[in-house]
Amino acid sequence: MTSEIIRFHDLHPTEADFRREVLTGLRERPRRIAPKFFYDERGSKLFDAITEAPEYYVTRTESEILQQRADEIARTVGTGGLLLEPGGGSCAKVRILLEGLEPCAYVPMDISRNHLRMAAEEVAADFPWLEVHAAHTDFTRRMEVPPTAPEGPRVAFFPGSSIGNFDPEHAVEFIAAVADLVGPGGHFLIGVDLRKEKALLEAAYDDAQGVTAAFNLNLLERINRELGGDFDLQHWRHRAVYNENEGRVEMHLVSARNQRVRIEDEVFDFATGETIHTENSYKYGLDEFEGLARRAGMETVGVWTDQRGLFSVHLLRNTALTQE
Ligand code: AVI
Repeated sequence: MTSEIIRFHDLHPTEADFRREVLTGLRERPRRIAPKFFYDERGSKLFDAITEAPEYYVTRTESEILQQRADEIARTVGTGGLLLEPGGGSCAKVRILLEGLEPCAYVPMDISRNHLRMAAEEVAADFPWLEVHAAHTDFTRRMEVPPTAPEGPRVAFFPGSSIGNFDPEHAVEFIAAVADLVGPGGHFLIGVDLRKEKALLEAAYDDAQGVTAAFNLNLLERINRELGGDFDLQHWRHRAVYNENEGRVEMHLVSARNQRVRIEDEVFDFATGETIHTENSYKYGLDEFEGLARRAGMETVGVWTDQRGLFSVHLLRNTALTQE
């Protein structure tokens, strides 16, 4: 069935990548699986639940900053632009900006197909004046504006400190790719989580209700569901630890005993305590992040934080000169 209130664009089917990347990552030492694979339908719902966990200050704090600064942001960026949101599967925080920015169209891009479609339809229903083009794509590989989207000065929005899920070198590459996407003079509004006390960070990534643990473990369930794996969830544990030297929270899945797992016709042996590294979530200082942006060819035109200094929102501009 095609939707009438949004335009849906299937830009890059991703099923084959999941199989290939999981098998490759499990053969490596240390073993690893990329965090983008958390977001199947169940994983996307679990992530939405994480954003409501009392310990996960990220979402609340960023929304508070955006609410306080929405007018100032709109004044700097201007109205009538094409608003692009890589990873915008829930289309949640963008709502705070829409009235002020009055974009000519909104383009959320996400890897989680149904989640994206439903969220995009809800935004379109709540903002009837807004043209919405939802793009199903793996934005970590390629960002592309759907061909039928209208033109206007481009502004990209990347909230939630998703930039923290790239290592710093890839973060620079990603920001440079966004600079290309928005073009000379284009803007990039990005949420960046800040370095802070270890206890606060570890609680945020290992909440008391166990939602983050379920989110991490769902990756193994997804492998069972989609790739015919036989991970026994009883014998795996969630671990979140702040690596202060690297400035990142690491999430791992820890094998609780010696065990053998089969995926398709391949066998993987895990020793007690062996881990699968599933996510890094880098935290930055304000100057440190400004430096990354500069290396990617973007200048910082605004930075805002909350009163406790937990989180920051940066407005960047592509400094390249317009080519005639
Ligand atoms: C999506 N991303 C920015 C989240 C983060 O904080 O790194 C994913 C997450 N992982 C565990 N909790 C939340």
